[in-house]
Amino acid sequence: MPFSKRFTLTQYLIEERRRFPGASGNFNALVLDAALACKAIARAVAFGELGGVLGNQDSALGGAVNIQGETQKKLDVLSNQYFTRINEWGGNLAGMASEEMEHPYQIPAQHPRGKYLLVFDPLDGSSNIDVNVSVGSIFSILRAPQDVIAQGRDVTEADFLQPGTSQMGAGYAIYGPTTMLVLSVGNGVAGFTLDPTLGEFMLTHPDIQVPVDTQEFAINASNSRFWEAPVKRYVDECLAGKPGPRGKDFNMRWIASMVAEAHRILMRGGVFMYPRDTKDVTKPGRLRLLYEANPIGFIMEQAGGRASTGRQPVLRVTPSSLHQRIGLVFGSKNEVERIERYHTEPVEVESGNPLFGKSSLFRD
Ligand code: AHG
Ligand code: MN
Ligand code: MN
Repeated sequence: MPFSKRFTLTQYLIEERRRFPGASGNFNALVLDAALACKAIARAVAFGELGGVLGNQDSALGGAVNIQGETQKKLDVLSNQYFTRINEWGGNLAGMASEEMEHPYQIPAQHPRGKYLLVFDPLDGSSNIDVNVSVGSIFSILRAPQDVIAQGRDVTEADFLQPGTSQMGAGYAIYGPTTMLVLSVGNGVAGFTLDPTLGEFMLTHPDIQVPVDTQEFAINASNSRFWEAPVKRYVDECLAGKPGPRGKDFNMRWIASMVAEAHRILMRGGVFMYPRDTKDVTKPGRLRLLYEANPIGFIMEQAGGRASTGRQPVLRVTPSSLHQRIGLVFGSKNEVERIERYHTEPVEVESGNPLFGKSSLFRD
C-alpha cells in the first residue's frame, strides 16, 4: 500500500473544514487533541502488565469507586487523566464531563477557554481490560451555551444537558488487534487505523455504512428475566430461527465492550440492545446517555443505522442529569425499527411467556 495514497486524520479534517470557510480551526484542533488522548491510551493499553497498568485503582492513590458506584480500574483513572490533560490547554474547550468525574471539569485558570464542551467515557468496557479483550474510548463534542462562551464562566451540569441531536461531532477509539478511530463530524462516518510506526491515524474506512438488515444480535441474556415484553418477544423470535416467524437463523454475540459491539455492527451490521429492564428500578438502563448512548447513536445514524431507547430516537432525549442512564438499542435500521414497533404493539403475556401472548410467535 503506497503511503501517498492514504489520507491522515489531519488531512481528512482539513478537507471537511473546507465546507465551512469561516471555521476557526478550533473544532479540528479539538478533534486532534482527543485523538492524541486516544493514542496515549492505546499505548498504555498495549503495554498492559508490562506497564503496570492492569488491575483495580489503588484507593490510596485517589478514586477506586466512581460516581456510578463502579470499581475503577487503574486504566479508567489513567485514561481520564490523559483526556483531561491533553484537552485542557488548547483554548478549544469551555469544560469537560466524564464517566469518571462526578462534576464537570473546569478548564484551569492558566489556560484559555473556548466554545466547545467535551464529554467522554475514557475507557469503555474496562471490565475486559484484565482479560485482554478489546476496550475503547468514546467522546462527544457539544457547543457550549452562548453565555458560557461570552462570559468565559465556569461550566455547570446544566450546560451539558443537550440532546444528542446537538452534537457537533462524536467518535470512538477501539483498542483491539489494531487501534482505530471512528469519527463523525456530521458528514457521514470515517474510520482511521493507527499506523504505530508513524503514530498517525490513517483513513482506511471512508464512508462507513451500516447494512440495513442483519442476522446478528447482541444482548446480555443473563438479564432475560428482567426484560420487558417487547424485548423478550424480539429475542424469542430471533432464537426461534428458520422455522419461527422471522424465517431465518440468527447469530448472537456479547463482548461486554459497547465500543467493540458498535464497531462490529458498523463493519458488518447487527443490532445491539441494552434495554431498560426491571433489574434495578433506580437505574433506567445500564448505559449512560451523554457519553455512551449519544455519541454512539450519532455515529450509527450518520452511518445509515438507527439508535433508539426502544420508544424514541435516543438523540431526541433531553438529558436530565450528567450521569443519566438510558435503555439503548442501535444498529441495522430495519431491526431497530422492528424493536421500536414491538414497543408500540400490545403484548398479552400469559403464563409469563410472551410466546403465548396475543402478538406471539404462534399467531400472525
Ligand atoms: P464501562 O466499562 O465504561 O463502565 O462500560 C461498560 C458497559 C458497556 O461497554 C457494555 O456493553 C456493558 O457495560 C456491559 O455490561 P454487562 O457487564 O452487564 O454485560
Ligand atoms: Mn462505558
Ligand atoms: Mn468507562
